[in-house]
Amino acid sequence: MQESSIQNGPMFDPASYAEVRKPLLEARTLPAWCYTSADWHAREVERVFLKSWLFLGRVEQVPKPGDYIAIDTPGGPVLMIRGRDHEVRVFANTCRHRGAQLLEGEGNCRAIKCPYHSWIYATDGKLTGAPGMDETVGFAKVDWSLTALRQDIWEGCVFINFAQDGPGLLEYFGDMPSVLGQYDFANLVCVETRDYDVNCNWKLLIENALEAYHTPTVHKATLGEQVGKLIQTQGNWDAIFGTNDQDQSFSVLPGETCALPFIEGLGKMEQRGAYFTVLYPATQFACAQDSVWWLRLFPTGPESCRLNVGFMFPREAIERPDFAEESKKHFERWFAGIDEDNWISIMQQKGLRSAARKPGPMSSQEPVVHKVYNWLVDRVVGNGAG
Ligand code: FES
Ligand SMILES: [Fe+2]
Repeated sequence: MQESSIQNGPMFDPASYAEVRKPLLEARTLPAWCYTSADWHAREVERVFLKSWLFLGRVEQVPKPGDYIAIDTPGGPVLMIRGRDHEVRVFANTCRHRGAQLLEGEGNCRAIKCPYHSWIYATDGKLTGAPGMDETVGFAKVDWSLTALRQDIWEGCVFINFAQDGPGLLEYFGDMPSVLGQYDFANLVCVETRDYDVNCNWKLLIENALEAYHTPTVHKATLGEQVGKLIQTQGNWDAIFGTNDQDQSFSVLPGETCALPFIEGLGKMEQRGAYFTVLYPATQFACAQDSVWWLRLFPTGPESCRLNVGFMFPREAIERPDFAEESKKHFERWFAGIDEDNWISIMQQKGLRSAARKPGPMSSQEPVVHKVYNWLVDRVVGNGAG
């Protein structure tokens, strides 16, 4: 794509973001075009989503050889599949012949058969069958395996990167593993996921998940007031730590009690609340005393996104006879919160369409929202220096 700052007027001019760059309490919010414009969206996909490590899901979501999940990403459809050799791999979900998408949804297969002309790929991506190709000059199956994406797995979490270059996953994380390592992600098991198609820009949902300012209003009838304090981080993540003044899990409704044990070895602070993180650009790991859940956002257009949520508990918790009963309390809290957050984000998207909308001021309770703005402007617009 051509650099199009002239055509797009001020949208890609760093000077337009001078107010976003100011310290939090003097700053203004992002211009509304960042949430509504097709040009901004295209640049965000190109410069952010196609260049960052993206969380896809967990290895235990595909426990057996041949288990797969097809996921739509900003870089197109991908396929996470466990091979006969038990390795979890991620491929572009597109046939090497004329490009048909190979699999949809989730399931188990012995091999991947293209629905168009029946090319067959093994679960490790090798092309094993290609009917009608005998006369094609120079054709050799070995040259036409599925396209493997650059991937890495951290503690059971599968990540991909559409860019071949740039930092590796651990370098990208910075100090995230040393702060969140105490939750022992490798011992967590994903027990449930849900997808939501939401009519708002993806940023509205991630910003919402990173401030407690809205909780006494939006979650008045459910979660109530919470307090979030900024955590100092290094690397491509940020976090607030939320507390609610009770010894119960932060992951159940206030006043509710839950018998599931706290994760062993948590620090004093961690026993009193939860981290709400953003792993840039668009994943939240929310780490509570007894469980970790994720929000994963992918844009599906300038004004729409797909939210994927997953719920993880330590292996010992899910083996307890009371797990089904006790974990229900977590889902109750989360599904109520998610519905309310989706609703307010759709309201916000509608409001941002106003031709009269101008950037607004920010509260001391929105430090990570401000960080999200600046992380994005750095990448989508740059700082004007180059
Ligand atoms: S597009 Fe897949 S076999 Fe033709
Ligand atoms: Fe919320």
